[in-house]
Amino acid sequence: MGLGNRILSLASTFLYALLSDRVVLIDQVENFASLMCEPFPNTTWTLPLDFPITNIGSFDGKHPSSYGNLVKTKKIRNDGVDDPFSGHPPPSFVYLHLTGGYTSEDTNFFCEPDQLVLREIHWLLVRSDEYFVPALFLNSIFMPVLTLMFPQKEAVFHHLCRYLFHPSNEVWGMITRYYESYLAPAGETLGIQIRVFDEKQSPFDVVLRQVINCTLTQKLLPGIDLSHPAAVADRRKTKAILITSLYSGYLQHIRTMYWEHPAAGGVLVSVHQPSHEGWQNTGNKTHDMKAWAEINLLGFADVLVTSSQSTFGYVGQALGGVKPWILLKPENGAVPEPACVRDISMEPCFHSVPPYVCKEKKNGDNSRVVPHVIHCIDTPWGIKLVNQTV
Ligand SMILES: *[C@@H]1O[C@H](CO)[C@@H](O)[C@H](O)[C@H]1NC(C)=O
Ligand SMILES: *[C@@H]1O[C@H](CO)[C@@H](O)[C@H](O)[C@H]1NC(C)=O
Ligand SMILES: *[C@@H]1O[C@H](CO)[C@@H](O)[C@H](O)[C@H]1NC(C)=O
Repeated sequence: MGLGNRILSLASTFLYALLSDRVVLIDQVENFASLMCEPFPNTTWTLPLDFPITNIGSFDGKHPSSYGNLVKTKKIRNDGVDDPFSGHPPPSFVYLHLTGGYTSEDTNFFCEPDQLVLREIHWLLVRSDEYFVPALFLNSIFMPVLTLMFPQKEAVFHHLCRYLFHPSNEVWGMITRYYESYLAPAGETLGIQIRVFDEKQSPFDVVLRQVINCTLTQKLLPGIDLSHPAAVADRRKTKAILITSLYSGYLQHIRTMYWEHPAAGGVLVSVHQPSHEGWQNTGNKTHDMKAWAEINLLGFADVLVTSSQSTFGYVGQALGGVKPWILLKPENGAVPEPACVRDISMEPCFHSVPPYVCKEKKNGDNSRVVPHVIHCIDTPWGIKLVNQTV
């Protein structure tokens, strides 16, 4: 699981813990401690090494203690009976399997009667890889508290992120050195985050043309001036572009474009990219530290252009509090039209929306319409929080 997904799912789990009056402890996997500071002074959010359940990492949807299986085998009843444990004491823990590909029994977790049952369980072990907060807003038990906690619906992840995720000293050093050297001197900064999921559908030259078309059409970057090759630049107008990508080709092309020709209006454009790792190498400490530093640097940009469905971009835009321009997914190797659109909210999109399984269906409709939750632009089947009442 990439770093973006880990951050999204931890923030979601933290919010669920607040709503259900629990504390969060995180399993000490991979190099999380080299990336993040402890959020609360003189205490730790890591699970003690002598925690009696040692094989948490191997839990999956087939585990007999998963909530879905406990419901399926009727060890837990979620149909509103007085004794959901049928005369037995509640289990000492329940495993919540909240990753994409979960069963409809697992997704009962999001329903009201199930939350009443889960209150009786002391320990919940959660595995998740997504931002499931929008689904918590669909639950009428949580909704009143969420409304009080977050008057601005599209700032939920922004607040959670800034509250919980503080880069370690090493990563903070990387962020500030890069920022001071390359971005702070510029009058304006534009962050461009390019993530290619399918190189057949989105070949390099198509994505490059898309990025250039998007930034020029939306006037995020100045065009080039072909008629004044020796135009004198105006040193007061400086623009720094920060590119984050696994590849260096985008940087080279855009930098060359503004070297071969002057930018319109005398703007001085500089192009920067902290790393180009070639492939996503999650679990490698140096790679993850660079990725986390780059996410934070995106958060310092004045304007953002991000790739559809990229959780890396979701975290950057939330840290910055910026509504990005989204590079729509190219199809069949063509630049989409328009090349990019402005997002409606800076909230992340929840991709693995559970099928609507809660009992009180309205009018046989399969999707409950609630205020502040709508389908995403970058992932039409996903849902996200917005400020407007829908
Ligand atoms: C943390 O612990 C140290 C050493 O015990 C103490 O000096 C400090 O005041 C504590 N800080 C907080 C915020 O409790
Ligand atoms: C962007 O693409 C559209 C559609 O192909 C085209 O009409 C427009 O001229 C392009 N704009 C730029 C600045 O390249
Ligand atoms: C980890 O990633 C860095 C680049 O960030 C690379 O230089 C190093 O070789 C990688 N280490 C391993 C063990 O893959």
